[in-house]
Amino acid sequence: MKKTATLIVDGKSYELPVMVGTDGNRAIDISRLRKETGLITYDPGFGNTGSCTSSISYMDGEKGILRYRGIPIERLAEHSSFIETAFLLITGELPTKEELSDFSAMLNDHSLVHEDMRHFFERYPRGAHPMGILSSMVNALRAFYPEIPERSEEAEINKAFARLLSKLRTMAAMSYRISKGMPVVYPSYFLSYCANFLNMMFDSAVRPYVIDEDMVSALNVFWILHADHEQNCSTSAVRLVGSARVNLYAAISTGISALWGPLHGGANQAVVEMLQEIYDRGGDPAPFVARAKDKNDPFRLMGFGHSIYKNYDPRGRIMKKMCYRILEKRDFNDPLLDIAMKLEETALRDSYFIDNKLYPNIDFYSGMFLRAIGIPLDMFTVMFAIGRLPGWISQWKESREDPRGKLCRPRQVYSGPGKRDYIPIPERKPKEVNGRRLYPQSVEKTFETKYRSSASYL
Ligand code: SDX
Repeated sequence: MKKTATLIVDGKSYELPVMVGTDGNRAIDISRLRKETGLITYDPGFGNTGSCTSSISYMDGEKGILRYRGIPIERLAEHSSFIETAFLLITGELPTKEELSDFSAMLNDHSLVHEDMRHFFERYPRGAHPMGILSSMVNALRAFYPEIPERSEEAEINKAFARLLSKLRTMAAMSYRISKGMPVVYPSYFLSYCANFLNMMFDSAVRPYVIDEDMVSALNVFWILHADHEQNCSTSAVRLVGSARVNLYAAISTGISALWGPLHGGANQAVVEMLQEIYDRGGDPAPFVARAKDKNDPFRLMGFGHSIYKNYDPRGRIMKKMCYRILEKRDFNDPLLDIAMKLEETALRDSYFIDNKLYPNIDFYSGMFLRAIGIPLDMFTVMFAIGRLPGWISQWKESREDPRGKLCRPRQVYSGPGKRDYIPIPERKPKEVNGRRLYPQSVEKTFETKYRSSASYL
């Protein structure tokens, strides 16, 4: 196979190096393109652009493959724990028994949150979305804990990672309890990472939470499935912001904000809201499928389609099985699950979904799973964030250690007005676009009458 690609521009040909990945995937290295040709590439959404080389996770979208550090997701879901998988992602290797127990002990040591932070939660506007709270609180951690200077000792860096992994889980439970006016439950030395989370969420002085090992192992699998996923939107946000050498907490806070979007991690909440709407309207998914196919309708079938998977999302298969198992165990007959099944069947028979290779993704079933274990709807994406944290940390670490690592600064194709003069304000005429003024008169007038004259300012 040729090691270069030939580009011909204005009759001149250029040889561009071709890189080959571990599994044979190839990429044209265009890092010298502008210098040699004066041209840039154009790829909105970066669907055809590799931003880095990475050895953390590997996906084959056509075959529906996902591996973490080379290990198939199915094997990790069957045999590993979330903490062991986090260790694998961050260090590159599975831990020995001793390494795993040291790592768990370190997570335990850092599981408490500074007591002053409780005031942040208590004073945060009630009804705020937990993802907004989480993103703010993670950024606030920088005020309590030192950042990782450029030349940090490995031990210092690992402590910061353990601190974040443990405290994010504690803060998630804390924000839920405080938002409901319930007393905060502290992490217990005697419980594992996942059992601790369930206990911090649901324990009560009047009805002690009974740890159900099936729930704990299902939550381990849920978080393993979410732990990393190549250069997805939120991971790319962490890498891009991290490239400016901001502190770890600020970079992770950006990842949480990106994950919040309904097209990304927010889809697990949006799927359940969509299924609930189908249920409320009588349970027939056909009108929703029709809307999803209508190019004039911005509606998307939540939980369907994927930027990379043009096959069934391997994580979705595992999630679907787990969902059934938990619902059966809890003897919980969720009407939304029946609707989800009907919707999946309808869509997978429809040529629009078949032709566009739109299959259920991880979010399609994860919402039903979270409902089955009692997680409130607005905490669904927080659960995704806790799972994705080891991935964000490992990607942040890898980009920071990359000798070719540079400040991320994409280019653009300019499509605005050509050079024009500055017009003095008396000579300017109001502009109309599609018959409407650029800045509607009514808003200016309202502003004048409503705010300038009254004493109350927002
Ligand atoms: C996650 O990147 C990751 O790895 C993300 C993630 C992770 O672990 O980090 O896997 C987590 O974000 C999963 C995705 C969750 N989002 C949703 O379920 C929201 C619904 N899905 C879509 O909005 C959509 O599928 C995207 C955003 C996920 C992908 O959109 P793309 O890249 O446009 O998908 P595509 O190129 O395969 O689409 C082909 C066609 C397009 O139509 P045309 O523009 O060619 O006319 O299918 C259409 C799309 O508009 N299409 C859909 C659709 N998804 C794509 N039409 C209706 N419903 C959908 N869900």
